[in-house]
Amino acid sequence: MRMTLTVNGERHVLDDVRETESLLYVLRERIGLPGTKNACEQGRCGSCSVQLDGLLCCSCLVPAAQVHDRPVRTVEGLSPPGCQEEPHPLPRAFLDAGAVQCGFCTPGMLMATEDLLSRSPDPDEAEVRAALAGNLCRCSGYQHIVDAVLLAAARLKAPAPEAGR
Ligand code: FES
Ligand code: FES
Repeated sequence: MRMTLTVNGERHVLDDVRETESLLYVLRERIGLPGTKNACEQGRCGSCSVQLDGLLCCSCLVPAAQVHDRPVRTVEGLSPPGCQEEPHPLPRAFLDAGAVQCGFCTPGMLMATEDLLSRSPDPDEAEVRAALAGNLCRCSGYQHIVDAVLLAAARLKAPAPEAGR
């Protein structure tokens, strides 16, 4: 089938999409966005998390055909085009808090964090842990990741420094 979808604001037209292809496959193999990771392909790890229609979902579980004409945001979409030199506050906080080890889970964690902070800009630790419960990390004990989310929330809340001061 032919399908269209908009990923991070860019429209794509794809031909010969098979019924068995997932949104995850389309993002990685057809559109060339490798940020969304494939770990379990069973909806268990959260590494493939993206936003579909603004809602967080596991892209490995979404048949590509169902995404026809719908907007998708991936981890690459956290930094607007032209702003790649300045890291987005979320990955910056993950780096600063030491929350990235192998980094395989990080894109999914970032998308879950973005989703949480868009709904709840000032979460407490329990809220952060609940929001990340669907995202598995094999490297860490999660504390650094939770710290990173709280750090990101604090930074996003803080007023931007005035220019020239
Ligand atoms: S790859 Fe989709 S949830 Fe694990
Ligand atoms: S940093 Fe390695 S799986 Fe999370």
